[in-house]
Amino acid sequence: MALKLSKRSDIPVFRALDILGVVNERTARGEDIIHLEAGQPSDGAPKEALDYACRVINADPRLGYTEALGMPLLRDRIAVWYRDTYGIDMDISRLAVTMGGSGGFLLAFLSLFEIGDKVAVPTPGYPPYRSYLKSLGIKTVEIETSAKTNYQPTVAHLEALEEKIDGLVINSPANPTGTLIPPAELKKIAAWCKEHKVRLISDELYHGVTYGEKAETVLRYTDEAVILNSFSKYFAMTGWRLGWLVMPPEVTKRVKCLAESLLIAPPTLAQHVAYKTFDHTDVLDGYVARYRKNLEILKKRLPAIGLDRLSDTKGAFYLYADIRHLTNDSEAFCRRMLDEAKVACTPGVDFDEKRGHGTIRISFAGSTESVEEACKRLSAWLPAKAGG
Ligand SMILES: Cc1ncc(COP(=O)(O)O)c(C=O)c1O
Repeated sequence: MALKLSKRSDIPVFRALDILGVVNERTARGEDIIHLEAGQPSDGAPKEALDYACRVINADPRLGYTEALGMPLLRDRIAVWYRDTYGIDMDISRLAVTMGGSGGFLLAFLSLFEIGDKVAVPTPGYPPYRSYLKSLGIKTVEIETSAKTNYQPTVAHLEALEEKIDGLVINSPANPTGTLIPPAELKKIAAWCKEHKVRLISDELYHGVTYGEKAETVLRYTDEAVILNSFSKYFAMTGWRLGWLVMPPEVTKRVKCLAESLLIAPPTLAQHVAYKTFDHTDVLDGYVARYRKNLEILKKRLPAIGLDRLSDTKGAFYLYADIRHLTNDSEAFCRRMLDEAKVACTPGVDFDEKRGHGTIRISFAGSTESVEEACKRLSAWLPAKAGG
């Protein structure tokens, strides 16, 4: 008899990361591949922040643990960022620094839900939501959205749910569609959750990466939600593995005990870099200006080559393309695109198991030259694929 393996760890592969691994390996072997698959900025933290971290190491190479909820200095700095960005004052008793947004999810879901609880997530959506929930014994209730509501859930979707839910995850700007929940709808969703005693978790990871209207935080409308954010996207610190949670103080108490025992503390050096990065948002805003330029190029060039059913991207660095007129197998389509055109994209099945065979996600977080080259390669490759 085979030795035991848990059922709860039987979760699907995260294809976007698998593809990234394959593409990185092929690139290292010398293949000239354009990366439209990677959900991460191609630049890093501002140089001044890295220099500061070097000075910190030189002064104390020991780099001990910090407080489980993160350095108070950094939590204070995050609170100042909320005041400057949204005009919202908060006490640091509502803040925890975590190991990436991913670490924040783990602590949030563990502190909020019991085994057997039901949590609704939008589909298409960020694939690990389902995996977190399954591995923690929480049932995922999928809210199928479409282009009609900009792939975002609305109160009408919540009203139509057949099961009573305990939690709801929202994500604006969203991965994989780049769409926003309008402030008026966000307010209605927050009110609906309050009325139905549903814990709202707002994934605000792509705040700061918007092209026009700013993304509104759900904190404007409720104090009961748990907000997830990260240094991975706007702050361009993906590999440093640092994020944060904003939550009601009674949740912070739970998160603190969980963090102490499960993780001890978030990475110390990363916290120093993050602290200094706040002083160099001009550099980060420069990155966002480049993403915006990339988006404009793609919105102009893709429709001309047959990719004309695109999401209404207003933030993050993704376009979600409906390719049902070209194929009903997005995985095979992406494989051929990689092999024949040397352009890597993520198949929609990662984000939507049921309907994602007819969609792909295009990431434009790379250089403008790479986006232009991708358009050139796709315009030579795509016409031959129409109807194939
Ligand atoms: C919507 C969303 N949430 C959470 C994460 C987790 O990011 P990290 O753990 O790097 O903060 C990601 C990463 O791509 C994401 O796209």
